[in-house]
Amino acid sequence: MKLIVESKKRYTITSALPYTNGRLHIGHLAGAYIPADIYARFKRITDNDVAYICGSDEHGVAISIRAKKENKTPKEIIDKYHALIKKSFEDFGISFDNYSRTSSKIHHETASEFFQFLNKKNCFEIKNSKQLYDPVENQFLADRFVEGECPHCGFEHAYGDQCENCGSSLSPEQLINPISKISGAKPVEKETTHWYLPLGEYENFIKTWFLKDKKDSAKSNVYGQVKSWIDQGLESRAITRDLDWGIPVPHKDGDGKVLYVWFDAPIGYISSTKEWAKNDNKDWELYWKDKNTKLIHFIGKDNIVFHCIIFPIILKAHGGYILPENIPANEFLNLEGEKFSTSKNWAIWIDEFLNDFPGMQDSLRYTLTVNAPETKDNDFTWKDFQARNNNELVAIFGNFINRVFVLTHKYYDGFVPESGDLDTVDTEILKRAYKMPILISEALDNYKFRQAINLLIDLSRLGNKYLAEEEPWKLYKLGNIERVKKIMYVSLQLCGLLSLLSEPFLPNASKKIRQILNIKETKWTELTFSNPVLKEKKQINKPYLIFRKIEDEEIKNQINKLNC
Ligand code: MF3
Ligand code: ZN
Repeated sequence: MKLIVESKKRYTITSALPYTNGRLHIGHLAGAYIPADIYARFKRITDNDVAYICGSDEHGVAISIRAKKENKTPKEIIDKYHALIKKSFEDFGISFDNYSRTSSKIHHETASEFFQFLNKKNCFEIKNSKQLYDPVENQFLADRFVEGECPHCGFEHAYGDQCENCGSSLSPEQLINPISKISGAKPVEKETTHWYLPLGEYENFIKTWFLKDKKDSAKSNVYGQVKSWIDQGLESRAITRDLDWGIPVPHKDGDGKVLYVWFDAPIGYISSTKEWAKNDNKDWELYWKDKNTKLIHFIGKDNIVFHCIIFPIILKAHGGYILPENIPANEFLNLEGEKFSTSKNWAIWIDEFLNDFPGMQDSLRYTLTVNAPETKDNDFTWKDFQARNNNELVAIFGNFINRVFVLTHKYYDGFVPESGDLDTVDTEILKRAYKMPILISEALDNYKFRQAINLLIDLSRLGNKYLAEEEPWKLYKLGNIERVKKIMYVSLQLCGLLSLLSEPFLPNASKKIRQILNIKETKWTELTFSNPVLKEKKQINKPYLIFRKIEDEEIKNQINKLNC
């Protein structure tokens, strides 16, 4: 075990840029946002220099498809969903240092410069190929804009890149009787030219940088995926597209072409950092080019190849940039046993959750962390949400804190009692408690969020057990005033620790408890046995309940809502 909590490092922490083609649901939160937010808050409260970066991913075919569906322009779509997503993140309390968007000027410039720099450096191949073209609309067809019969299962509405019925990956030529989704016409093949990134040339780089050097630190689900990609061999990948929505290819032959969304979007992490640095008077280059900075990408498992292979290759090809230290991808969260689906409205939307459960962000953060799809897909159920909230947050964590606050007001008018010399049981409890910052830090440094939040609850369990064994209320009645002071003093220290240690996980509860205790946010690096969080004779404020129970009725309503 480490003896101290690590501090004083620089971190660039990113969460996958969400596509602005729909609202945010809790599946998104569980994958790339809550863990990253916990990690960023943890790194801040352990006294590190943190840039937690995100923004909207506003290019790509997903946006064009949504625009067609809603009969709007892509620009109208991104403006609408960027605003909704940004607001959901804010209301939910995700603590980005900057939330940008890839339609911004600074991003267009940054991505264009990247392309031009790599092009000058001869990092690209230029190749001709035949692609499907809509002869009525006179435009090339992105894979998603071609529909036809699946050669594997016969499903009639398979897309050019995937059959949603049997799940197989497809390429558009494989479809039987393909049609253009834009005009309904039969597509024809037409020659086109594109810029390709020769991923194969970087196989050895990925083998060393990732497969060898990250063998012990990468999560096993991430490592396995990267290994299987490399084992299959890396092929050149086109980084331009014949589309009208995206960043125009900055080249004399780039007419009618845009950068591939997966080329521009990860560069969005850099442009968002630049935007933040400009507004905050920081040097963005320290966060992307200084060897001492640790770059961590939080993503869902569908983004692994882009963050572990393609983007690192882009950064490597460019040169001068640091490479990610870790890419702790989560698996997927399901909802009541089924996949989240925007089109089937099988989802819990963040804005609706906050409407129905105002002020209960922490309860959702708790459930999604304790039940995070850390190593395998996991399921969210409303019943589990209720049980976790009622039996753990309310009955263990909240109950301990509340009992201590109420007794402190009852016995001492809200003042922290003077303990005198503590008994052995008391110092034992405090010693165990002051190990928690180190244990929790260690778990979080290894991206074990479930373990970390369980340690936090264990600390409140420890407090409950201590109270149950020592029974201060009995001793008080019996007139053993001196002993009661010690027990209450120790219990109050535990509350103080809980308020500070819960900050990354339950930031709202943490703040409320600190306000009741009248203490400032303190760095975990300062938490030691010899420097107690609460000083004797300090006055604490009137308590109120930090968490509330969720009634059966509320859960029933949510389940009904889901099924209609
Ligand atoms: N928009 C992508 C998705 O939702 C994620 C983009 S991450 C970035 O799957 F690296 F490209 F930014
Ligand atoms: Zn199929």
